[in-house]
Amino acid sequence: MDLFSEIEEPEREELKSLRKELEEANYKYYVLNMPTLSDREFDEKMHRLQALEAQFPDMFDPKSPTQKVGSDLNVQRNNVQGTKSFETVKHKYPMLSLANSYSREEIEDWVRKLPSNAEIVCELKYDGLSISLWYEHGVLVRALTRGDGQQGDDVINNIKTIPSIPWRIERNDIPEFFELRGEVLLPWERFEALNKEREEQEEPLFANPRNAASGTLKLQDPKEVARRGLTAYLYYMLGENLPGTTHFERLETAKSWGFNISDAIKVCHNVDEVMAYIAYWDTERKNLPVATDGIVLKVNNLAQQEELGYTAKTPRWAIAYKFPAEKQLTLLKEITYQVGRTGVVTPVANLEPVQLSGTIVQRATLHNEDFIKSLDIRPGDRVWVEKGGEIIPKITGKEQSDEVQSTKDFSFPDICPECGAKLVRVEGEAAWRCPNEAGCPPQIKGKIEHFVSRKAMNIDGLGEETIDLLYQKGLLHNIADIYNLKLEDIAAQERMGEKSAQNMLAGIEASKQVPWSRVLFALGIRMVGETTAKKITRFYTSIDALQWATTEQLCAIEDVGPQIAENIVAYFNDIRNLEILERLRQAGLQFEGEAVEGPQSDKLAGMSIVISGTFSHHSRDEYKAMIEAHGGKNVGSVSKKTSFILAGDNMGPEKRKKAESLNVKLITEDEFLEMIK
Ligand code: IVH
Repeated sequence: MDLFSEIEEPEREELKSLRKELEEANYKYYVLNMPTLSDREFDEKMHRLQALEAQFPDMFDPKSPTQKVGSDLNVQRNNVQGTKSFETVKHKYPMLSLANSYSREEIEDWVRKLPSNAEIVCELKYDGLSISLWYEHGVLVRALTRGDGQQGDDVINNIKTIPSIPWRIERNDIPEFFELRGEVLLPWERFEALNKEREEQEEPLFANPRNAASGTLKLQDPKEVARRGLTAYLYYMLGENLPGTTHFERLETAKSWGFNISDAIKVCHNVDEVMAYIAYWDTERKNLPVATDGIVLKVNNLAQQEELGYTAKTPRWAIAYKFPAEKQLTLLKEITYQVGRTGVVTPVANLEPVQLSGTIVQRATLHNEDFIKSLDIRPGDRVWVEKGGEIIPKITGKEQSDEVQSTKDFSFPDICPECGAKLVRVEGEAAWRCPNEAGCPPQIKGKIEHFVSRKAMNIDGLGEETIDLLYQKGLLHNIADIYNLKLEDIAAQERMGEKSAQNMLAGIEASKQVPWSRVLFALGIRMVGETTAKKITRFYTSIDALQWATTEQLCAIEDVGPQIAENIVAYFNDIRNLEILERLRQAGLQFEGEAVEGPQSDKLAGMSIVISGTFSHHSRDEYKAMIEAHGGKNVGSVSKKTSFILAGDNMGPEKRKKAESLNVKLITEDEFLEMIK
């Protein structure tokens, strides 16, 4: 190295590290909406990078952040859910599954077919979703889901939220292209926190971390993905001219490049060693932060792997061993009933505590009356409780024995265990419901808890306990009462100092700025979740407009089915709700707002649509908005590029003639609404 290059070296290093820093800052700014640098710091660093790049033209890189200024970095700025879909990409090598085995005998059968000197690598079988990471010149360029095994979705922006996955590997000993496959997982701790949050929001719970990871990876909002905290373990490297002659060596290499490779990998030489590995991890896996459902056995030598080859679906050189699902028999002591914020009465099994997958289980949901009847279980029965890789314990049956006698009969209660109102069961629904919305304590408190929750009005300082306290004292009976709370009322409560009372009032005041779509979600109309509320408020930009919407009109909105539409109409038909809404309006809540931009779906993407004639369900303007909301374009005149004509009554004869001559289809109003539903 000559004198000049020695002097230049630190600056070249600075250039590289600035590129990396700015690339990450861009990603955090555009994708995650979490800026890490101030605008000024960003500009200063960008200028410095530009200067360094001018000084070292040999280091030009078209992928440098300086070359992308003003572009959107191939990233969607508009991250409204459902507005973007993933690019589907063909896998370079098909993503196969593994043959399963469940016993020593089956493993022995497999080993018998291997060359006698074959080494076997034992690994944990992670229970998440497989992912294929493509690295070109050390840069992560794609992250594909398994899809159908032949092609998958590129979820790179979501994958980039996983801290342990490198975006770029700065080494000169890496191949031009390689692929690393592994498993994306949601750690137990994150999974439990997510479900707790969903329970509070009365959103459906994820049954296990695998489903949660899958739902998370498909989100269109990387910021939300980042918040949920996915992780990944990598277990398979593919490509041409890769280093090493064994699978184990390749994983060691990947580890030295900075990839997250499990430490629980062992090279075994016979079935006894394999069985010892299985026995050890069958217990020890309960202490891992992520879900595992078995062991994967792989032939270590790559030449032997190639010789063994593949069947249509699975490699012959690898096999999975699945751990038995954990289940236990225990006594069903009693069935109790929980009333939720919407009045649904959920039966809960109270069990003799039992140890299962490392935790003690003493309660499990029994879902509804039909579930209990289908399993024919009653208090006094000994029932099977299962976890099998899933954290939510399930009752799967009862002990079938003549000696065991149920001690009590079972019948679902017909009155509300909380308020004594007569329960109703809506036809077609499995749930019994307490109709006493305005007088049943858990419903009253539940509605208030939902209203103040983070994704709704986000009122800090008004937690479950405080709501309970203020309810007991008669200060809170419904959501409108929140805006009548006075400093002295709150401060007078036990464990409530003046400071926390002031904080609470500040939170209440701030909630008056919460936008209309979240206000609608906060009202707690049955089945109107966060996303549905957003979609509704794109069409109905004020509560006054929404109040008069018919079920038919509401059903034209994506995700709104007849049941949700009926719930909305019923909500506005209830005089008590109208009174509460009036008080909220007086308090200054946002009951109107701009239509949220961005298409609602891409059902009409790329289509040119002509509107002609008069309509009975919606106005022309509304149809125009719907076309645009679903990604289509409304055009004035018919041409051969016209995809179809939305034809109402009294369509102009000229247009009709032209449509016929160009073979352009006419679609009726009803057909159109069905199309975009
Ligand atoms: S190797 C061709 N190793 O299990 C073999 N797979 O049931 C490629 N899995 O689709 C897979 N842990 O998603 C391999 N240590 C591990 C694994 C593992 C979990 C998953 C993977 C695969 C599925 C097959």
